[in-house]
Amino acid sequence: MTTASAPFHDDRLSLQFTVNGRTRSLRAEPRTHLGDVLRDALDLTGTHLGCEHGVCGACTVLLDGEPARSCLTIAGACAGADVTTIEGLDDDPVAGELRVAFNREHALQCGYCTPGMLIAARDLVLRLPDADERRIRAGLSGNLCRCTGYVGIVRAVRSVIAERRARGIAPTTGGQRGLGPVGARLGTSSGPAEVAPTSPRPVARAAAAPPFADLDAAFVPAHRFDQAFSVAHPPESVFALFGDVEAVAACLPGAVLTNHPAPDLVEGALQVRIGPISARFGGRARITRDEPTRTGRILGAGSDAGGRSATQGEIRYRVGSGEAPGTARIDLAVGYTLKGPLAQFGRPGLVRDLAERLGADFAANLEARLSGDPAPVPAGINPLRLLLTMLTASLRRRLAVWGRRS
Ligand code: FES
Ligand code: FES
Repeated sequence: MTTASAPFHDDRLSLQFTVNGRTRSLRAEPRTHLGDVLRDALDLTGTHLGCEHGVCGACTVLLDGEPARSCLTIAGACAGADVTTIEGLDDDPVAGELRVAFNREHALQCGYCTPGMLIAARDLVLRLPDADERRIRAGLSGNLCRCTGYVGIVRAVRSVIAERRARGIAPTTGGQRGLGPVGARLGTSSGPAEVAPTSPRPVARAAAAPPFADLDAAFVPAHRFDQAFSVAHPPESVFALFGDVEAVAACLPGAVLTNHPAPDLVEGALQVRIGPISARFGGRARITRDEPTRTGRILGAGSDAGGRSATQGEIRYRVGSGEAPGTARIDLAVGYTLKGPLAQFGRPGLVRDLAERLGADFAANLEARLSGDPAPVPAGINPLRLLLTMLTASLRRRLAVWGRRS
């Protein structure tokens, strides 16, 4: 049995923007954030990703000259924008002075926060009229450092501001709307301490994801990818087995069939575990098959136990002849949409890796069942094995990029 990935359907957006003074054109998934595009598509790995929800500031870049969280910036919204990453500040005099001061004042240890910290600090050096420690601390409050305790960082920024003002370099005025990176600003340029106190706003609980319409046959998936694998059995045997829903479910790790109310309708659950995240999706699926073309479609919809994440998806399959006589090749076209908290976690790349893992396990179980030797199916997706697979795949992709460059 072998597995292979066919080229996946391309539904990405075309983007053109300037990065570090260079016009870049690329394609990206509609919900990809700018940090991922910079790191994964342009290999500008100086932009670090920490929390990926706007808290830590590690991902800070300059967007049209202003600090912005690249993890909160949808890449599609950057068409025509001017983006500067830490790599683009190599020859910037202010960043240069800050680097010297950071070294001198021991303002970094592991360095993970440092690119974002330097970009936020540069913004303060340009804008603050004097080396006011309170305003520097407020201005850097959107950038977290887990190592240094901030003392060295604040000292470094103070020293650069003081030296520049002593050299007669005035602060820039106008244009800035407040301290800190975009998204972390608390008020006017007079700083957070001068903002009128307001009653704390009640924190709203995340609303439950609206459930998907039940098996909407006309639904258009947000993401698609293709997969293919081969088994050492003739296509007609494989297609016949695909008609046995219980047998197919038994080959799918983590799947449990709970009801089979009609020949083309099944109900059940799928357990997915990735590291600390565990979700059990319950739902139903409608199955259609076309004997003459040996094709089929499985259309499913479901939600997790809390009802906060929901998914709808379809798998179209075709069972054809494999390369060797007596073998079959199964082509899958997968489309899916995720809603709710899991949508934030379920990046297309991650879902593809998960599906590849699932596909490989499914193919192995299918092969065993067709050979009359059903293998024990794991109760869920092994998170450690999945993580290793993802790391290996990521390493392979990186090596391929390096290989193309060298
Ligand atoms: S990665 Fe933490 S704010 Fe963007
Ligand atoms: S130097 Fe390690 S997080 Fe700041």
